Amino acid sequence: MSDMQDAPSFHRNKQPMLSVLTPLLDGDEKHVLEIASGSGQHGPFFTDTLANLRWWPSDISTQALNSINAWRTHLNANAVNAPQIVDVTGADWRDDNQLDQGPEKFDCILSMNMIHIAPFAATTGLIEGASKRLNSSGFLVFYGPFKRHGEHTAPSNQAFDESLQSRNADWGIRDLEEIIDLADKNHLAHSNTIEMPANNLVVIFKR
Ligand SMILES: C[S@@+](CC[C@H](N)C(=O)[O-])C[C@H]1O[C@@H](n2cnc3c(N)ncnc32)[C@H](O)[C@@H]1O
Repeated sequence: MSDMQDAPSFHRNKQPMLSVLTPLLDGDEKHVLEIASGSGQHGPFFTDTLANLRWWPSDISTQALNSINAWRTHLNANAVNAPQIVDVTGADWRDDNQLDQGPEKFDCILSMNMIHIAPFAATTGLIEGASKRLNSSGFLVFYGPFKRHGEHTAPSNQAFDESLQSRNADWGIRDLEEIIDLADKNHLAHSNTIEMPANNLVVIFKR
């Protein structure tokens, strides 16, 4: 029980995120690789409603893996597979068959609230990896705060960005247009940007 972390943001964004993911992912069986699952609360929540999903949680941190595992066991979330370590900056996960578990190609790769709390290499690693690990009709989905055309979209995001950079100079809110450009260079076409509560965005790319 004590391994289960409770992320306040999960309670705020779970329902809006489910509304975004439902039209994108319902239908046939779909395999979702979740990057940076953190507490591991999203997988059980989404798969509880979207029963066609097979969830593959991951994180760079063992503490996160313990929490993900504890939640999936506690909630008896059968569609959520055992978590595995994935560091998006590493080369191994980008190669077919180099994950410990999961299919060669995924229908969706989801990254929520990670790219601003990591060096920019995590953004490039995620995009390059998604380009290789998504199937031909797969989606890469980002959720979190973004700048637009180099500008913050709200004073609260600017303050958050400053606090991130004071913690680590390599962290910070990323620019949406830079991400779109990088994705485009990796054969991921920008499909949609959706405004979410609290000045966050969902950004969807299609393989
Ligand atoms: C703010 S938490 C977000 C967790 C969860 N996605 C959520 O929205 O509640 C950021 C997560 O990113 C993970 N992370 C940081 N760098 C990473 C990397 N290079 N590869 C994979 N995960 C990373 C951290 O371990 C942490 O769990």
